Amino acid sequence: MTHLTKPPRFRGDPAHGPKDDLPTTMFIERGSSPRSVNGASRALQRQFESIVSSDDVRWSVRYRLIERLGSGSQGVVFLADRMGAHNISLPVALKVFSPQNHADSGAYRRDMERVAQVAMLLALIQQDHLLDMHNVMQCRGITVQVMEWIDGFDLRHLLQLDTLRSVQSRLSPERWAHLTNVIITDGPTHSRLKPGVAIAVLRECLAALAAMHRHGIVHADIKPSNIMLKRTGNAKLIDFGCAFEIDDQAAPRACTPKYAAVEVLMGGKCSPLSDLASLGYCLVELLSGRTLFAGQERFQDLILSKRELPELLPDLLPSEITDDERMLALIRGLIAPNPSDRFPNAEAADFLDHGAANFQRELVKGDLSSEYENEIRLWLQEVE
Ligand SMILES: Nc1ncnc2c1ncn2[C@@H]1O[C@H](COP(=O)(O)OP(=O)(O)O)[C@@H](O)[C@H]1O
Ligand SMILES: [Mg+2]
Repeated sequence: MTHLTKPPRFRGDPAHGPKDDLPTTMFIERGSSPRSVNGASRALQRQFESIVSSDDVRWSVRYRLIERLGSGSQGVVFLADRMGAHNISLPVALKVFSPQNHADSGAYRRDMERVAQVAMLLALIQQDHLLDMHNVMQCRGITVQVMEWIDGFDLRHLLQLDTLRSVQSRLSPERWAHLTNVIITDGPTHSRLKPGVAIAVLRECLAALAAMHRHGIVHADIKPSNIMLKRTGNAKLIDFGCAFEIDDQAAPRACTPKYAAVEVLMGGKCSPLSDLASLGYCLVELLSGRTLFAGQERFQDLILSKRELPELLPDLLPSEITDDERMLALIRGLIAPNPSDRFPNAEAADFLDHGAANFQRELVKGDLSSEYENEIRLWLQEVE
């Protein structure tokens, strides 16, 4: 796998740090000269010197748990306040990993080592559409991931008809008409995104996946509840609880069957191409407003349904999609049952001829495009 280089350190060494850029601001309290040094400030100055000249600074951190943001088989995610100095607190998200589904404490520890390793690699990638990782800590033997709090909603919540109804109840008829024309409207089992918005979200997810895959990490659990839309209008991939390094032979084979690629359901290892298939199933759900594979639990049934899905698209999707061959080719390039019939990677799914970027370009040419980031931002202001 690719090895990431550590960012350069600026430690006051003129050979490494910017020379002409020294801060010149001086804070002068009324009635005092900035150069008058009393005993207290001399002591503080010594503390300052000891901090900036040391390699290791430490302090303890306290979090106040504010609200449960979600929970699942892996544990519980909280919105928390990280308490800081001078009476400030900063919002972060904490994922507390449960030992429940592990055979014993050794299995939990080994799995948490994987979670920590992946978090560290993700923190170095710094792709805008990947959740920012801050740290992985242990509290009384339990692993806790500290991460960016996303002010927004996951796609599962946004697609619920109840969510759309409550938005509708707050809008004027004109605004509602615009929303349903450009952004989101009713579908057969849940809401559906209009093609331009769905493709804008898809492209950001592809960019995030491309960055992960380039750095040798497979997400392995792409599904609507693991894709969030921030209030800024951008998408973020979250939940790296199943993610693993491609060459990690010991990585567990966990998956969400409804969104897992055919080869994963058949017992194969999840690969970057399997992530593409999972994102493809999400795209079909976003565009169709239907829950796919409803009521199917057995792997054998899911495998058969997923093999048939490419042929069934014209029956599942609204005509504004099925009339467009490029859109169908894009979806089929993601969900092809055989991995070798899919786009070769996430970048290609965006940039090849029948990829997502070209589709968006055609919308612009046909004057059907909109400023989707802004449209999504305005829509999310209306969601609760
Ligand atoms: N960093 C975050 N900021 C805001 N909400 C989050 C964050 N992480 C998770 N959530 C919410 O909590 C839910 C569960 O978190 P997730 O990491 O997906 O855990 P699980 O492994 O249980 O699925 C998500 O679907 C999302 O709604
Ligand atoms: Mg999740």
